[in-house]
Order: sequence, then structure tokens, then C-alpha cells
Amino acid sequence: MITARAYPDIALIKYWGNRNNALRLPAAHSIAMALDRPSVEIDIEHASVLMIRSFDEKGTERILTEKQLERFRIHLELTKKYLASLGYEHAIPASVSFTIRSGIPPSIGLASSTAVFGCLAKALVGLLRDTVALDLQQQSIIGRFGSGSAARTVYGGFVAFIAEDSDALDASSVVQIAPQDHWPLHDIVIVPDHTEKKVGSTEAHALAGTSPLFASRVEAIRNRRQQECTDAILNRDFEKLSAVVEEDALDMHRVMQTSTPSINYLSPETHRILREIEELRTREHLPVLYTMDAGPTVHLLCTPDAAVRVGAFADTQKGCTIFRAKTGPGATLVS
Ligand code: DP6
Repeated sequence: MITARAYPDIALIKYWGNRNNALRLPAAHSIAMALDRPSVEIDIEHASVLMIRSFDEKGTERILTEKQLERFRIHLELTKKYLASLGYEHAIPASVSFTIRSGIPPSIGLASSTAVFGCLAKALVGLLRDTVALDLQQQSIIGRFGSGSAARTVYGGFVAFIAEDSDALDASSVVQIAPQDHWPLHDIVIVPDHTEKKVGSTEAHALAGTSPLFASRVEAIRNRRQQECTDAILNRDFEKLSAVVEEDALDMHRVMQTSTPSINYLSPETHRILREIEELRTREHLPVLYTMDAGPTVHLLCTPDAAVRVGAFADTQKGCTIFRAKTGPGATLVS
């Protein structure tokens, strides 16, 4: 049996909208910082039919819905097709049996599917390693078949997901901008609401193109934001990072809100937390920035010297769950 471990990431330049929904090929580049908690582990072995069990951090079984099971079935079918396209027919498993143990609450904007499919890709690569050596780019492609952003989890630190002008199975790649120890930032995550979102990101990605703001978003990432974010990371320039990350996050949420139908992942609590953190950082000159993925959850990224103060702010948020994470290592094989 093989065991793999993975973590969520937090997008700095958001991946939003696909050029090909079935293959989860992104319309634009994105950048994320890998986190070091909470984690998910997957134990995997060969089997004659697909078997999946899923448990939360307390060991309670999560019964997977038919839709979730179908997502795993499609993931395995695409992985088999990809292995065949590489000429690795001999390595294609009949099927697999795996158990997921996840400490990540699902569907609240904490990248649980990124971590699960990143972990599954790592586990599959480990399971097949006696018959075929798959490299990190190939692992990334296998992750993407289950969740677009899972393409990024092969590396730790700061990772760029590169969109290509092609609909081929393998038409995406990832680049590590800088490793985990380059810039240890803290991510203090405030979860105001554990209610699972009504529209999942898979369905919502498909609506991105209906927003009149989508084309200019893709252009802005291509022409400026991806580079500005990369430079800010390489130069450890927190002020520049804050400007581009907040601009991009708010822009993504405006695209969502102006899609047909409109999607609003942010809640009144999210807006209140943003107002309060803006006041706090102005008052105390704190190096802290905010960003939100597909959910009301607020990620407060800060440098180590601000982490105690930002953590204390988070602890005053009544009724919220707080996670404390740092720049992380990406998916790994445990055994
Ligand atoms: C807002 O990777 O969640 O978090 O392929 O449907 O799983 P699926 O999409 P997903 O999209 C990521 C959306 C985002 C931004 C990001 O992580 O870049």
C-alpha cells in the first residue's frame, strides 16, 4: 500500500474559468502559495474495481455523493487515457482502492479538492512507480484531471500554473517560482461559515465566460499581473504582493458576481472582516494582505513579524474557525 499527503494552497493570482471544462484546462495563468496545513492523506492500492472511502479528521466517515464518486471515476478514466497517450499501456491499473483522511473542511474556500486530487495524483504516481517513472509535470497533469488547481500541488513554495493555447490532454504545465524556504509567509485563515457552498467551483468555472469582465481579466493576468506577482515573490516585496493579490482577488469576485447566473461567494461577514483588517493595517502599519478563493473564507497573509498581531485579530472573530498555516511543502509520499 502507498500513502501520500497533501495540503491546500492559497491562490495569489486566481485561476478562474477554463478554456476546456472537461479537461480543466485553464483560460489564464495563475499563481499559488502552497500551505503546510491542514492536511489530507490517501492510502491507495491496486484493485479490480474502484473503491473509495473518505473520513474526516475525527475519523467519521463522509458518505460520498454520486456526483463526488463520478468525479473520481472520470479522474481515473482520464488518467488511464493519459497513460495510454504516453505509451504506458502496461502501467494502466485495472482499478484502485483508496481511503481519504482529510482534515480540510470541504466547500468553504479552503481548497479541499486541490489537496485531495493533488494527494491522489501523488498516490497514483507512487502506486505505479515499479512499472513507470512519472515526473512532476506528468503528476501535475494527473492532478488537474480531478481539480484544476491540483496541478499546482506538485511543488511546495510558490507555484505558477501555465495555461496553453491547446486542448490536448497534456496542455498545461507548472513552474516553481520559489521554494518553500524562500519566503516563509503566514496564512491566518478565518472561516466565518462552514455551510457548504451551493455552487461548486467546477460548475462556476463554466460560467466565467458569461461575465462581461472576463476577457479583460484574462488580459490583465497575461499582460501584467502574473509578472508583477512573480517579481514580488522573487524580491520578497510584500507591498507589491499585496497590491496585485488584492486587485486580482477582488477582480475574480467581480467576474463571479457579473456572471449569468451571478455567483456571490462572499458573505456580509467576509466584507466586515475585510473592513476591519483594512482599518487595523492602516492604524498599526501591519504587513498583512487579504484574499478569498471560492467561498466566504478570508485568508490573511502576513510576514512572520506580523503573525502574532494578525492571529490575535483573527481570535477576536466570534463564531469563526481559525486555521494557522505557513508556506508549505507540496504533496509528498509518506510510504
Ligand atoms: C477560486 O481548482 O477549485 O480557488 O477544477 O472545479 O476543482 P475545480 O476548480 P478549482 O478552482 C480554483 C478556484 C479558486 C482559485 C485558485 O485556486 O486559483
